[in-house]
Amino acid sequence: MKAIEIRNKYLNFFKKHGHAVIPSASLIPENDPSVLFTTAGMQPLVPYLLGEKHPEGTRLTDYQKCLRTNDIDEVGDNRHLTYFEMLGNWSLGDYFKDESIKMSFEFLTKELNIPVEKLSVTCFAGDEDCPKDEVSANAWRKAGIPEDHIYFYGKDDNWWIAGEEGPCGPDTEMFYDTGKPACGPDCQPSCDCGKYVEIWNNVFMEYFKDSNGNYSKLKQRNVDTGLGLERMTMLLQGKETPFDTEIFEPVMKQIENLQKVDNIQSRRIIAEHLRASIMVTSDGGRPSNIDRGYILRRLIRRMIRHMNKLGIDLSELANLIDLNIDTLNELYPELEKNRETIKSVIIEEKDKFVKTIAHGEREFNKEIQKLKEQGKNEISGEVAFKLYDTYGFPPEVTQELAEENGMTIDLKKFDELFKAHQEKSKMGSDQKFKGGLAEQNEKTIAYHTATHLLHQALRTVLGDHVKQSGSNITEERLRFDFTHPQKMTKEEIQKVEDLVNEQIKRDLPVTCEEMSYEDAKNSGAIGLFTDKYGDRVKVYTIGDFSKEICGGPHVTHTGDMGTFKIKKEESSSSGVRRIKAVLIK
Ligand code: SER
Repeated sequence: MKAIEIRNKYLNFFKKHGHAVIPSASLIPENDPSVLFTTAGMQPLVPYLLGEKHPEGTRLTDYQKCLRTNDIDEVGDNRHLTYFEMLGNWSLGDYFKDESIKMSFEFLTKELNIPVEKLSVTCFAGDEDCPKDEVSANAWRKAGIPEDHIYFYGKDDNWWIAGEEGPCGPDTEMFYDTGKPACGPDCQPSCDCGKYVEIWNNVFMEYFKDSNGNYSKLKQRNVDTGLGLERMTMLLQGKETPFDTEIFEPVMKQIENLQKVDNIQSRRIIAEHLRASIMVTSDGGRPSNIDRGYILRRLIRRMIRHMNKLGIDLSELANLIDLNIDTLNELYPELEKNRETIKSVIIEEKDKFVKTIAHGEREFNKEIQKLKEQGKNEISGEVAFKLYDTYGFPPEVTQELAEENGMTIDLKKFDELFKAHQEKSKMGSDQKFKGGLAEQNEKTIAYHTATHLLHQALRTVLGDHVKQSGSNITEERLRFDFTHPQKMTKEEIQKVEDLVNEQIKRDLPVTCEEMSYEDAKNSGAIGLFTDKYGDRVKVYTIGDFSKEICGGPHVTHTGDMGTFKIKKEESSSSGVRRIKAVLIK
């Protein structure tokens, strides 16, 4: 079965069971300050898992584009990927363990025709925070999983949370037996030997873990599931790795045709990083030296390095990108319209890297010369870091060059400097995402307050179904995405504009209060999804007009903001409209 068929079967199956099919969110999260990329299907749904009403109802399903880079250095083996697609289904306070497990079992055995004896499942063993999950185990027994294929593990294996805090709970995981021999008498699903491959994870989210590590019960009991498409495709096709499936095969073959040196790891790294770079670029990512831009840069540069290693002419890159887009077209038709942008962004980064390598090598050679004259054979951590920081030299390249010259690097010092740099850029990104503002100055602060006024005005004019689904502010304008099924009429736009300007003229005071999330919701404050909903939130009130949970900052009075003007009202995605507006002084 091809990947696209598995995806379609999945979405149709859950549609048949009352789920609304929602579109994949962007790889680049607009509303979640806590992460650089979308790493799981649940991530764009966090507000709804915490109790916001989803416009499509309480049963949802989708395929979600995901990027996880914690294992980036493992790519090249037979299983690690940075970009992957996660199929998911959610219950937002609707069904729970029994129905979720029943549906998963039916999908695996009836739709994908996996024989029952190939399946093993794991459930939460219980601890002081949450009891043993006998409910899930019983549901599996009832479905037909034999007792000796049911395992219980602790929090390390059977508990799911995205990061350190947030909605979480025990999970039940499904494993596929590849038929490989057991690695020993203790071989179990938790074992890493490759006999068992995890195929699906159903999380039963009942808890919220706060930043102090305390668990409280969520308002509603949710189900959040995730099934990795590449892995399932590989297993159903009886392939050893995802690189042997149609998702990667044409590109892998072409790399093999072009290579002058044979190395399977490098071929996989090139194919994997190329696909990931294409997906990130298509969703608007651009290479840079910090945050997500740096990740994209790293993916592209690592790919180029391995192209060099295989002796592939870098002028082939454009053709490889074309071939990869053609290969992915069936799964992601949106790539087609971004084809030229994707090509120019990746190729421009390649060109920069080629120049960088040339500069860096000159610098490196000067340093080696100096050290040799001094009779030394260790490159200092500072020099290695400068090569990285100033010349964009990947540490592994410096390492390779050092070895070629019979030198070592003071890695301890390098790591120290590298960590400090990462910490700094992390702080930078935390700061940047605070309150959803890129930079906080008089202009952006006024736009922030204008965004609240606009949000409330839209709800007053169009109705309470209007919910923020994205917000972006620069010094020149605000951009606001919100749920609304159709184009706004001229009259509606005028009314919203007038309503906002009226509030500005009234010179309303803007006040801020801190309270519990519960109290905030009960007070009627609307939720901005740019906040992490910890147990304490800030609520900004603008006179008698607007009340909204938000990190701030805001103007103290609306009077000096200028005149509000809507410049554009357009579609952003299905069911979501986008407004661009300015404040004129
Ligand atoms: N959030 C869970 C995971 O990522 C299930 O989707 O595994």
